[in-house]
Amino acid sequence: MEKKEMLYEGKAKKVFATDQEGQYLVQYKDDATAFNGQKKGQIEDKGIINNKLSVLFFKELEKAGVPTHFIELLSDREMLVKKLKMLPLEVVVRNIAAGSLAKRLGTEEGVVLARPVVELYYKDDALGDPFVNESHALAMGWATAEELKEVQALGLKVNEVLQKIMDQAGILVVDFKLEFGLADGKIVLGDEISPDTCRFWDKETKEKLDKDRFRRDLGKVEEAYVEVYRRVKEILA
Ligand code: TMP
Repeated sequence: MEKKEMLYEGKAKKVFATDQEGQYLVQYKDDATAFNGQKKGQIEDKGIINNKLSVLFFKELEKAGVPTHFIELLSDREMLVKKLKMLPLEVVVRNIAAGSLAKRLGTEEGVVLARPVVELYYKDDALGDPFVNESHALAMGWATAEELKEVQALGLKVNEVLQKIMDQAGILVVDFKLEFGLADGKIVLGDEISPDTCRFWDKETKEKLDKDRFRRDLGKVEEAYVEVYRRVKEILA
């Protein structure tokens, strides 16, 4: 496999073309942003941890019947993935109130939800990724009814798989964000699953082990990423 030209640079990753038809190379950066890019920084070795952690999760999800874009781990910071036609949506699944849900509904962070909540956001930086519903997505042609049903069902399936792994690691899965795309007409999970895109709290102490440490200037940011990776590796590797 040959790495070709860079096709896209996002806030946390770069995507490269390859000489393989329908396959991209994703390279994970240490760059961290928050609040739609207004806060910028670096988290040392985050790219390595997010790449390897995503691989561990993707493999486990595939075993559980969730199709993912993951093909092969290439290096510390690089994985080979299937080329997807991305839906312009972020699918957020929540088990415990935190972040924007706590704010929107006026609940305290940490309130356990009676059932998982699935939310949709329209992926558009200029608009700040607004909260939308299914009828917006249908009316704007962002996805079909079948695709929306599928991404929500897969979101809940991912939640079950992640909760089972993280419970063994002594970690609560508070919430997380997924992005899906289409390959050969089939819905496939793309992007990453990492402390950048999930809220993880220590089960005992409720200590935050995710990007909220960076967003909220809580310190020990690198340490949190390393700790999550160490615990998950112990369970899965
Ligand atoms: P929120 O509470 O800020 O809406 O975030 C919900 C989850 O989604 C949380 O686990 C962090 C993740 N997330 C992203 O991955 N990217 C984003 O741009 C935002 C806003 C949240």
